Amino acid sequence: MQEPRHAEIIEGLRCTPACISPKYFYDERGSRLFEAITRLPEYYPTRTEHAILQASGADIARAIGQGCTLIEPGAGSCAKAAVLCGLIAPRCFVGVDISADYLAGAVQRLGARFPGLDARALGGDITRGIDLPADLPAAQRLVFYPGSSIGNFDPPSALALLRQMRALAGDDGGLLIGIDLPKEVAVLEAAYDDAQGVTAQFNRNVLAHVNRLIGCDFDGSDWQHRAFFNTAESRIEMHLEASVPVQVRWPGGERAFAAGERIHTENSYKYALDHFYELLAQAGFARTRAWTDPLQWFALVHAQA
Ligand SMILES: C[S@@+](CC[C@H](N)C(=O)[O-])C[C@H]1O[C@@H](n2cnc3c(N)ncnc32)[C@H](O)[C@@H]1O
Repeated sequence: MQEPRHAEIIEGLRCTPACISPKYFYDERGSRLFEAITRLPEYYPTRTEHAILQASGADIARAIGQGCTLIEPGAGSCAKAAVLCGLIAPRCFVGVDISADYLAGAVQRLGARFPGLDARALGGDITRGIDLPADLPAAQRLVFYPGSSIGNFDPPSALALLRQMRALAGDDGGLLIGIDLPKEVAVLEAAYDDAQGVTAQFNRNVLAHVNRLIGCDFDGSDWQHRAFFNTAESRIEMHLEASVPVQVRWPGGERAFAAGERIHTENSYKYALDHFYELLAQAGFARTRAWTDPLQWFALVHAQA
């Protein structure tokens, strides 16, 4: 029997227009490329969110309290978790990520940096549910979801994920989540199409990763990176566009792409804060507070369960 991701990738390749879920960006190389993106001058989200954590850290720490159990879906390099751990001294940290080997290294480094911390790594796809370790304390949990990763989901899927986080948090827990706010289109588009072409490499890397996952034969050099803001949907879209006619084969199937045809690889929704508060309320969160940067480009939102 084929594993679920195999079927999911092939279904996406057969669609018109074709799509590949952004979760497949993240093999080891994709995780490293994402880390390189976070250091690019055009990529404001990471440094802006870090600046909010630095500037409002004491206030954020007061809102959350000390000694919680910190759960970070999509933890990646755990760079932001490290800053947060310095502020709120959690007893326990669980990082969850689809890029399991990369996460394991990052959690090990986090544990070494905070010797009293019970730091654990959990490999897995959060869209298929998160099975936390049975011995994890149930009280005083904080789900941390920075980086505006929630923007990768369309609003109904984002709501489903927020409901899952509400269940993980428990009745006395909370959520600290990073939201990328709407802003000038040129700023948004540059962040997803940098001058050095690192985002283009990251986008094309998804093809090498699905080649390995399902045994298909994409050649990344046939595909151009495209990124633009879709105003009607309030989202950045990333696509790969065939620069020549392409025939892609995998065991048991194939798909022809005409020159100019695209594969949709990512959405990144930009939410106005009020709209996002409504989603949080629908997901069962209350008592919301937000911290933003002086330009109001990004927000860190704390919602009590
Ligand atoms: C945009 S990065 C954000 C990383 C980090 N949290 C930050 O804010 O810098 C998204 C992270 O989520 C992980 N990820 C993406 N989709 C996932 C999924 N469906 N399940 C688990 N992890 C996922 C990726 O491997 C990556 O580490």
